[in-house]
Order: sequence, then C-alpha cells, then structure tokens
Amino acid sequence: MKILTNTSLKPYHTFGLALNAKEIIKAQKADDFLQIWKQKPDEPKLVVGEGSNLLFCEDFAGVVILNCLKGIEVKETSTEWLLHVAGGENWHDLVSWTIEQGMPGLENLALIPGLVGSAPIQNIGAYGVEFKESCDYVDVLMLDSGKTQRLSAKACEFGYRDSIFKRQLKDKAIVIAVGFKLPKQWEPVIGYGALSELNDIESLDAKHVYNKVCQIRRSKLPDPKEIGNAGSFFKNPVVATSLADNLRTEYPNMPSFGVNDSEVKLAAGWLIDQCGLKGHRIGGAAVHSQQALVLTNIGNATATDVLTLAQKVVDTVYDRFGVTLEHEVRFMGRTAETNLEVICLP
Ligand code: FAD
Ligand code: EPU
Repeated sequence: MKILTNTSLKPYHTFGLALNAKEIIKAQKADDFLQIWKQKPDEPKLVVGEGSNLLFCEDFAGVVILNCLKGIEVKETSTEWLLHVAGGENWHDLVSWTIEQGMPGLENLALIPGLVGSAPIQNIGAYGVEFKESCDYVDVLMLDSGKTQRLSAKACEFGYRDSIFKRQLKDKAIVIAVGFKLPKQWEPVIGYGALSELNDIESLDAKHVYNKVCQIRRSKLPDPKEIGNAGSFFKNPVVATSLADNLRTEYPNMPSFGVNDSEVKLAAGWLIDQCGLKGHRIGGAAVHSQQALVLTNIGNATATDVLTLAQKVVDTVYDRFGVTLEHEVRFMGRTAETNLEVICLP
C-alpha cells in the first residue's frame, strides 16, 4: 500500500472540487484493503475508483482508498472469450484493448470514465447496452470475514443504474475483480439514437460501433479533464404510464422508453432542457449547454454551488412536470454517504 502525502481530493474526483481527505491511501493488492480496515476500525473509509460518479459535499474526515489492483487474464472456449480483470484497471482502456484484440462486445460502453471495479456498482450503461450483459461474475472482498467471494451476475441483482452493491452489500464488500463473457458470435446493438446510422455500413464490425460511440460521446459530453463533471447528474425517472400519457397530451414530442406494462422511463435531460435550464449558472456550477443532464464545474465551483444548482433543477422540473429527479451521482458527506434530500442548503 502507498500512503500519499498530499491529501487534496481534487485529482481524485472528476468534479475537481477543492476539498481534502484526512488521508489518501493507494491499495495495490487486495490484502491492503483488509489491513486498512483492521488498522483503522473507527475511521470513516471510502473506496474510490476515478471518482467519476462522486460528489464530495465537504472535506472527508476519514481515509480515501484508491483501487490500484491491476491485471488482465484471458481464456477462451470455442464460443466465448473469458476475461478476468482486476478492479483497478481503467474501463475505457479495457474496452479499447478488447476491440483491438478482436474480442467484441463492450464497444457500446466505450469512453465511460472510471475503473472496471466500479462498473458493477451502478451497472454502467450506454447506447442500448449495460455492463450486466457481458458480466460473468464479480469477485468481492467481504469486509466482515476478510474472505473473497465470487458472485454470479444474477446474484449481483443488476438493474438500471443499480445493483446489490448499492443496497445489501453497500459498505460491506469491495469489488476486486470482474469476470467477463464475450461471445465470439458478435451481434451489433445499433438501435440507440444516432448509432442507427451504422445500418448503412456493409461489413459492419465492432470497431465501427466503437468509433461511432466515441464520436457521439465527444460531441455531447464534456471531457472531465477540461470541465469538471460526473456524467449524468440525475437518473432518467421511471414514472407511471398514466403520468407519462398525461404529459404527452401537452408535450407530444416528449421522449420516453417503455419499461413494463405500467411504467415508462422519461429523459431527464429533455425535462431539464424544456425548463430552459441549459447554461443556468450558480457560482462556479452550471448546467451543461450541450447536455442538460450534466452539471459542470465551470471554474472554482464549491460543493454548495453544485448542490444549490442540483436543488434548483429538481425543484424546477417538479414544479413544471410533477416528476421527481433522483441523483445518480453518489454524494459523500464528512463521514458517510448522504443525499440531496437530507442536505441543508444555505
Ligand atoms: P467512483 O466514482 O470512484 O465510485 C463510484 C461509487 O462506487 C462510490 O460510491 C464508490 O465508493 C464505489 N466504489 C468504487 N469502487 C468500488 C469498489 N471496488 N468496491 C466497492 N465500491 C466501490 N455512467 C454510466 O453508467 N454510463 C455512462 O454513459 C456514463 N458516462 C459518463 C460520462 C462522464 C463524462 C462522466 C464523468 C461519468 C459518466 N458515467 C457514466 C458515470 C461513471 O463513469 C460511472 O459510474 C463509473 O462506473 C464510475 O467509476 P469510478 O471508478 O469513477 O467510480
Ligand atoms: N435531450 C434533450 N436535451 C438535453 C439532453 C437530452 O432534449 O439537453 C433528449 C435527447 O434529445 C434524447 C433524450 O433526451 O431524445 C435522451 O438523451 P441522450 O440520448 O443524450 O441520453 P440521456 O438519457 O440523457 C443516458 C444515460 C447516459 C448514457 C446515454 C447514452 C442516464 C441517467 N444517462 O443519457 O449515461 O451515456 O443515455 O446511452 O441513464 C451517465 O450515466 O453518467 C451517462 C452519461
């Protein structure tokens, strides 16, 4: 393990807020996590990948542990590529590497920031594909027993931006590795938005899809290296079909996606955009002008700026549409996770 001398959190979360932790440690092997938990039983502890789905709301009065576990192993059967990938590998580097190696399947999930070990936490998804579709298993370190356990994809209870790691196993298990199953028989998924333009390509391969996904993402989403952000700030709300039907009478062009017989998913970005909030600014925080679902740090934003802007978005969308937005980004308070509903804003 490596204890860092600089305790600024700025480089370790993509919002880039100027906040500090009490201590920051790099875990380079699974046992490092256990040692930290043993040596610091009473300190608040937080495992961080690349901090691309995190908003620190204040200084963190405990230990931030960076996941630095590395390594990729590959096996194959006649029908599948089987990958065992350590949790500290970078997600997009893995996607790019698999495409170069001729192992398609992850191309729709290109350019999602973060680490492989964080991908199962919210079951990352984009362009019609979710992590769960290529997940074989997730290896976790159980903090109570100190033992490693292998969970099948089914046992992870993946849902839309959801998994067992956000519920029963929250703060109890650390993801140390992920097993992937990539079928050699490739099926392109190009139904989402502008990806359907690829229908015109004669000998379509995964590289075409990968390039298109990268192109679309670069045109809409701010690069956290240039503008601080954590991707979609809110989840797309799932509402009763009856509410969606009522809204559609007033807004016939409202985008929506059927979830089941009684529920429909609405596009939070569209709802925020309709409220005229694109570009809306509070202090150093602003609603992104190309994608209203992304809140950004346009310069020296404070956590209060971002939180006040988030509350303004929630209130405005609720007043106009009667729809409550829930944040996708995980909020960290001084000692533990928190959320917009309980934070007292000035
Ligand atoms: P972090 O933000 O560091 O951690 C997220 C949460 O997981 C925290 O609560 C943390 O404590 C916990 N955690 C991290 N590692 C572990 C571990 N090993 N074991 C247990 N708990 C752990 N997401 C999508 O789903 N689809 C997208 O298209 C997408 N696009 C994005 C675009 C941009 C520009 C940005 C900035 C973000 C985007 N995201 C997207 C969100 C983000 O990239 C994903 O949620 C990603 O998986 C987070 O990885 P991370 O390593 O940064 O996790
Ligand atoms: N829209 C607007 N105005 C906006 C933004 C969006 O009208 O400012 C409309 C779009 O025109 C489109 C619809 O809303 O009709 C959906 O927009 P988009 O395709 O950009 O996707 P999204 O729903 O905003 C979701 C994910 C993204 C993921 C993309 C692509 C969530 C919360 N977000 O965004 O994930 O990359 O789809 O699949 O599900 C993330 O989770 O951080 C993330 C970036």
